[in-house]
Amino acid sequence: MKSDLPSTVLVIFGVTGDLSHRYLLPALSQICRAGRLPEDFKILGVSRQAGITREKIFGGELEPLRAFSDILQMDLADQKAYDGLEDKLKKVAAGMSAQPQIIFYLVVPPAGVLPIIEKLGQAGLNGPRAKLLLEKPFGVDLYSARELISATEKYFSENQVYRIDHYLAKEMAQNIAVFLGSNNILQGLWNKDYIKSIDVIAAEKIDIEGRAGFYESTGALRDVGQSHLLQLAALTLMEPCSDIFDFEEIPRRRLAALERLRPPAPDQLPAKVTRAQYKGYGQEVKNPGSQTETWFDICLDSTDPRWQGVPIRLVAGKAFDQKLTEIRVNFKEGKGSPNQLILRIQPQEGIELYLWIKQPGYERALQKLPLSFNYGQHFDRLPDAYEQVLLDAMNSNHSLFAGSREVLESWRILQPILEHWSVGGGQLIQYKKGESLEQALAGFV
Ligand code: BG6
Repeated sequence: MKSDLPSTVLVIFGVTGDLSHRYLLPALSQICRAGRLPEDFKILGVSRQAGITREKIFGGELEPLRAFSDILQMDLADQKAYDGLEDKLKKVAAGMSAQPQIIFYLVVPPAGVLPIIEKLGQAGLNGPRAKLLLEKPFGVDLYSARELISATEKYFSENQVYRIDHYLAKEMAQNIAVFLGSNNILQGLWNKDYIKSIDVIAAEKIDIEGRAGFYESTGALRDVGQSHLLQLAALTLMEPCSDIFDFEEIPRRRLAALERLRPPAPDQLPAKVTRAQYKGYGQEVKNPGSQTETWFDICLDSTDPRWQGVPIRLVAGKAFDQKLTEIRVNFKEGKGSPNQLILRIQPQEGIELYLWIKQPGYERALQKLPLSFNYGQHFDRLPDAYEQVLLDAMNSNHSLFAGSREVLESWRILQPILEHWSVGGGQLIQYKKGESLEQALAGFV
């Protein structure tokens, strides 16, 4: 398939980093194999280390990318080095058929983000053809997020900024808006009269995998609660889109859903908010008294008339017996038995609707069984979320990125919980590595 994407230079700050190697470069390589990169495309990998070569970075699986890549060594803290970057970009652009868009992708530790944005701006590299592609975390709380956003706005307008939340780009997450907007059968049921509660769950088998410094200063709520879980909740709670091809509409509706979410009132915090840590975490991060949570379980509610009184539970954690991300929509009992709809983000992406049937046999007995749709049974390969975000950023499609107002709203929702924990509120429960997820959901023993 031929690509109709504009001429693009992708500048990767932190090209030697872990994220680059695990997600970004393999995704680019896959887009390349699929023939979907822009016809006119260059990668400029920026690294502060000397001696980094194209051969070192783009070896093995990444080799297809080598032909149109270049490496620039620069001291990111030195303003003058950005003039060197500008010269380099001019040279790269001179060899292209059209004036390219320049996407600055910052794959650097959180503290490095703002200084680079400011230096790019001061060097005049923030022109209309420039875009910023940013990784979370977008701040560490409401106040730092406000600062980061307003400092960014000094140099880059909102439509130049693409904040990645790769969960929004997962195939099944994208399908939530389509599924809810396109199936009439659900329209009348999608509200507080029929739905009792909604659980958004993201459990991982992996632990912090050696990322001690990052995790100690972050914790589960900041790491995935502020971004992935609240965005999945917003997609579930938002007003269903009547026109699912109107990509501008989805972020607006996600934002409206977030604006209506409320954290528990101060006196409700102890009952509605739980945090826990897997055993051995303190030793792993060399801080035996660490209070950082590797699991959280929080209950929010919405002021949206559609959802008033429906508990919205967000739960996530590391080192469990399984990797599972899903949204469980629990229907009310009514005259019959309660049903459940599961939107499974990963693994085994799909949808399950649990219905009650008569168990075969002489006795009258009921059994709950799923009507299910599983991507694997119908489609060969699902694109990786990073492939989607890279293509969408090149294509100026903002719908799968978190807007600044969404980021601020999500921090607003979590701020009282973060403050409660920062003053020692809520006991930090310990759980064993490999703990059963279902056990944890039912309450740690
Ligand atoms: C990242 C978090 O955003 O998402 C990690 O920083 C987490 O801690 C990861 O492991 C999970 O992503 P995925 O796509 O593997 O579910």
